[in-house]
Amino acid sequence: MSSQQLPLLEVPVTALAQAQRYPRLRYMGSKYRLLPTLAKVFEEVGGSTALDPFAGSGVVSYLLKAQGFEVTSRDYLNFPVTLTKAACVNQRQRLSKDEVRSIAEGGNLDGRDFISRTYRGRFFTPEDQLFLDSAWSRIDRLQGEKRDLAIAALVLAAARKQPRGVFTVTGLRYDDGRDSLHKPLNEHFVGCVQAWNDAVFEGQRCQSFRGEAVEATPSTDLVYLDPPYAPPNDDNDYLKRYWFLEGLSDYWEHGTASVMHDTLTRKLPKRPTAFGSKRTIEAALAALFERFSGSTIVLSYGSNAVPSVDTLMAMLRDVKGSAPEIIDLQHRYHFGTHRNAARREATEYVLIAP
Ligand SMILES: C[S@@+](CC[C@H](N)C(=O)[O-])C[C@H]1O[C@@H](n2cnc3c(N)ncnc32)[C@H](O)[C@@H]1O
Repeated sequence: MSSQQLPLLEVPVTALAQAQRYPRLRYMGSKYRLLPTLAKVFEEVGGSTALDPFAGSGVVSYLLKAQGFEVTSRDYLNFPVTLTKAACVNQRQRLSKDEVRSIAEGGNLDGRDFISRTYRGRFFTPEDQLFLDSAWSRIDRLQGEKRDLAIAALVLAAARKQPRGVFTVTGLRYDDGRDSLHKPLNEHFVGCVQAWNDAVFEGQRCQSFRGEAVEATPSTDLVYLDPPYAPPNDDNDYLKRYWFLEGLSDYWEHGTASVMHDTLTRKLPKRPTAFGSKRTIEAALAALFERFSGSTIVLSYGSNAVPSVDTLMAMLRDVKGSAPEIIDLQHRYHFGTHRNAARREATEYVLIAP
């Protein structure tokens, strides 16, 4: 790590240790590996309320909660919101052994079969698909945070069983023989419930909403901005990679009608966002900086994306009246194939604008 002279405070070990217990979801752009740096930055910034409007895997919201902030999480996708409800909004509910057993082994309560019918031969084994349908028939009878926990475990289990955690290809092209790809999904589910149960702890009151980042209420001491990084020659579409998890998080309630039946994977349509294109991202970031100018803005961005860090520094200076501080870290991305390996090494910036 190379960092400019920023006087970072030590973070209480317990907060970071708690954050590192967050169940690990393979997610594009997730900041698990930056937790120690972000924890120091948040400690330095201080305050009591924080907004994480691009929550993604939810790990940074969870870190902020562990550091004692009242956290408001947000994402334009549903499943990240469910994960943050399970681990941040939820202060003390856990699923009992009996509840887990009934979801994992109890069988289908209402005969639903949307997943088995729609994804036959595409994703997961027939037994796994039967499990997903029957698990949902039982989860639908749960309420509140227990329901969030069960959905979070189902999402995590599906992601762990899918090669590389993304749903852009069907079949087992990336099957490298790992046990996790062959373990039955209901067994994954039991392990994932355990992981979420273990992550539950009591902190300050937290909230989580689905919606556009720029529509979040600008009233917190700290705002952590971790938008999709717009690459110069590629796309950064989250739904293209994780649409199955999005559908699974509400049993395709909002997307059943829009399942693209003429596609090989039966995916959901992409959901456009101004952060998805190099042509629109700069204006979208400018609008965010303006909206949250009353808070300390902590921004994550990458050197392999547009706009450049110099542009971002200038934009923040314009809004805040003084230059932000900057930390840069060498970062190796797990995503990408050999063909675009050059993009895997990048500098990860954290800009801090008080
Ligand atoms: C870089 S990821 C965030 C990663 C997260 N900090 C973590 O550590 O896992 C960006 C997130 O922004 C979300 N997103 C994309 N466009 C959005 C928008 N216009 N409003 C809110 N969320 C958006 C994506 O769904 C994705 O979860």
